[in-house]
Amino acid sequence: MGSGIAGLRAAVEAARVSNCKLRIAVISKLHVMRSHSVCAEGGTAAMLYPEKGDSFDLHAYDTIKGSDYLADQDAVEMFVRLAPREVILLDRWGLPWNRTEDGRLAQRPFGGHSYPRATFARDRTGFYEMQTLYDTLLRYEGECVDFFEEHFMTKLIVEDGHFKGFYVVDMKTQDHKLFLGKAGIMATGGLGRLYGYTTYSMTVTGDGLAAAYLAGIPLKDIEFVQFHPTGLVPSGILLTEGIRGEGGVLRNKNGERFMVKYAPTKKDLAPRDITSRSMVREIMDGRGFKGPRGLDYVLLDFGPIGREKTTARLPAMIELCRDFAGIDPRDEPVPVRPSAHYTMGGIHVDKYGRVPNVKGLWAAGEAGCVSIHGANRLGTNSTIECLVYGALTGEQAVRYVMSNNDSNSVQQEAIEEEATRISKLGEGEENPYQIRTELWDIMDHNVYVFRDEAGLMDALKIVKQLKERVGRVRVTDTARIYNEDLFRTLETINLVTLAEVVITGALARKESRGAHYRVDYPKRDDENWMKHTIARYTPKGPELNYIPVVVTKWQPEERKY
Ligand code: FUM
Repeated sequence: MGSGIAGLRAAVEAARVSNCKLRIAVISKLHVMRSHSVCAEGGTAAMLYPEKGDSFDLHAYDTIKGSDYLADQDAVEMFVRLAPREVILLDRWGLPWNRTEDGRLAQRPFGGHSYPRATFARDRTGFYEMQTLYDTLLRYEGECVDFFEEHFMTKLIVEDGHFKGFYVVDMKTQDHKLFLGKAGIMATGGLGRLYGYTTYSMTVTGDGLAAAYLAGIPLKDIEFVQFHPTGLVPSGILLTEGIRGEGGVLRNKNGERFMVKYAPTKKDLAPRDITSRSMVREIMDGRGFKGPRGLDYVLLDFGPIGREKTTARLPAMIELCRDFAGIDPRDEPVPVRPSAHYTMGGIHVDKYGRVPNVKGLWAAGEAGCVSIHGANRLGTNSTIECLVYGALTGEQAVRYVMSNNDSNSVQQEAIEEEATRISKLGEGEENPYQIRTELWDIMDHNVYVFRDEAGLMDALKIVKQLKERVGRVRVTDTARIYNEDLFRTLETINLVTLAEVVITGALARKESRGAHYRVDYPKRDDENWMKHTIARYTPKGPELNYIPVVVTKWQPEERKY
């Protein structure tokens, strides 16, 4: 389910490992090449050059320290070891990686990494990865792989601890379809459109996370939302960290390189949680610029990169700055502020991507929470996670299906209930777009880089009201063909469902760790809070429990950069 990097990689692996002996469906509410993964820009992390000083341990340590010690260290150790193979495979399948003068794969620096291990294809890495995977997968189309694009999944069907399939609405015709399967892989991405100011595409509405949660599968660490430092004001669109990797710097109103003060060693390449907080701190202390709609900002200066290198290595950034801010970044600095960018939490899975207690179900990429990224992901660790876990889960799913003879029928009532839920959606009086706007407003303000009890309580109160209102929405469009109104409404329901989980987790976590910074609890509290949040659905609201973090060899220490 899902057609981004994780979904396509899983399908490729399933086709390869099964020798095309199974039927594999790639189901997505989008056309494949419109999946949000195409928006990934700066790079994909992998340890490629031990002879130059990189190592698996260094990659693992950087990831764990970056995660503020919430990552499960056994999973990280496995992940970094599987990463290089994925980069090499994509090279073999035709991805045009940037190369060094001697023809080897080039890598650039990224925040929080102590070695420049971001393999890249100019500043369109995600696009090229998607194109390469899609191209590879098309070889199997019609033989063992079928694409179901513009198919909106409304329900994940789990019965008696077994994955059964998906309830799906064909967006073109509004036909309801049941996809039964012996194995399922959730690769549906994050929940970023909970926020109005975000790098996420409009389509990233947490549909898979909401479906899993409502099917009784817990969400893990969902209070940890990453804010990417350089969202271009006023749209919030992503300006890659690769700009700073190539030499770009952040400046305040006085022209100062303020990151020197907050992260004396790494400076502009500190991890994202630290950089984003430093930017907002500068703005709050009066050293930022006034922006439209309260979007106050600091500046990202491409100057130190130089004109020629900017043109060669960051062409998409030039285009984005021109199109979305009317600025050529080679001539003047551009306005930026932290923008919602990544969901560290997700569907609770083990280190292999398996959903515990549900046979035949996996989650990969941003939809799953292994946890590799803990409380704060390092840039470029996400595309590689999609590749590693796409491959891992695709292979396991094949082996599971090939050794399993269970039938996959489903209970009729569950199907009828879902059909009724969707058909009744049009009957209320609430405007779903108004609800979404109100949701963005409260999330952008109260559940942002800095959080506190009062703000989170207010947010929870509002979201509970939205939850009640979203039960009475009106779908005004009555068309059967491409009824966008219906699908936007379903998405809004999912977002409101997830907002309650994010805020409840954030309220409960009385410490500051990674991207979750509580002004009223400004310190990390390892004694009480070095544990994962597990949120389970109940009709009254999420029920929280906690499970320990796996530590192998890196004891928590103070993060200094
Ligand atoms: O800044 C970027 O190019 C984003 C990369 C990432 O989130 O991994």
